Amino acid sequence: MTERYIGVFDSGVGGLTLLHRAQELMPHEHFLYYADSANVPYGNKPTVEIERLVDEAINEMMKQPIKAIVLACNTATSVSAARLRVNYDLPIIGMEPAVKPAVLEGDPRKTLVLATELTLRESKYKELVKSLNAEEKVDALPMQKLVDYAEEYEFESPELSRYLRTSFAGIQWDDYKSVVLGCTHFLYFKEMLSKFVPSHIHFIDGHDGTINHLSNQIARNPFGTTSKLKCLLSGHEVANEIVQPYLNFLNQRSSRFATS
Ligand code: DGL
Repeated sequence: MTERYIGVFDSGVGGLTLLHRAQELMPHEHFLYYADSANVPYGNKPTVEIERLVDEAINEMMKQPIKAIVLACNTATSVSAARLRVNYDLPIIGMEPAVKPAVLEGDPRKTLVLATELTLRESKYKELVKSLNAEEKVDALPMQKLVDYAEEYEFESPELSRYLRTSFAGIQWDDYKSVVLGCTHFLYFKEMLSKFVPSHIHFIDGHDGTINHLSNQIARNPFGTTSKLKCLLSGHEVANEIVQPYLNFLNQRSSRFATS
């Protein structure tokens, strides 16, 4: 019996935020991280192109010994999750902006959902908001450029500050109580974002919920306690050192800043 990996997929480095948390919560599991870094970003491309790119990436992942796939990408989930679940006979866990926990908090003030352009224009997001009867309770703001900043490992800079200031210029924060980080790339900026919003705003993400769902869907790794990591970039295996700076950044941050 071979050791099987949990496959974690994203367009780029965003899914490492999910991987990092999953390694903390499931230390006995092996993970295969697949980034389609030749084609990142996804969120500003046409839907049909993302469908094709995700199909190609998942086909590549299926050549590896994996027991489940997490689409650690809200954008890929919104266009491909339903179809992939029909085509493949293994658990496929998607991610969607955490609107539900935000709405269930019961605070009458609104929530601002930050995500990619594609996630916010897709029907999956609109149906999610409608199903929660939350049309009046949530507003959406695409922040596509944060994906580029994350890919550049630029988590603090005058340009980034300018981008955040301009993006939030029209927001009446008194009307809001929370911000949903609806793109995995955005988790890197939680600390930075908190400097640009008033202190009553809290951040919500779907990472822990997704990992909880994942662990209910899989058989636990029976091969002991050490966790392996294998990384592929658009089909090519690479040394884990490539992703290490991002995991180090998240390590430092999680020791200073509690994840929500
Ligand atoms: N990290 C992805 C998400 O959660 C996609 C970002 C992108 O490639 O535009 O939506």
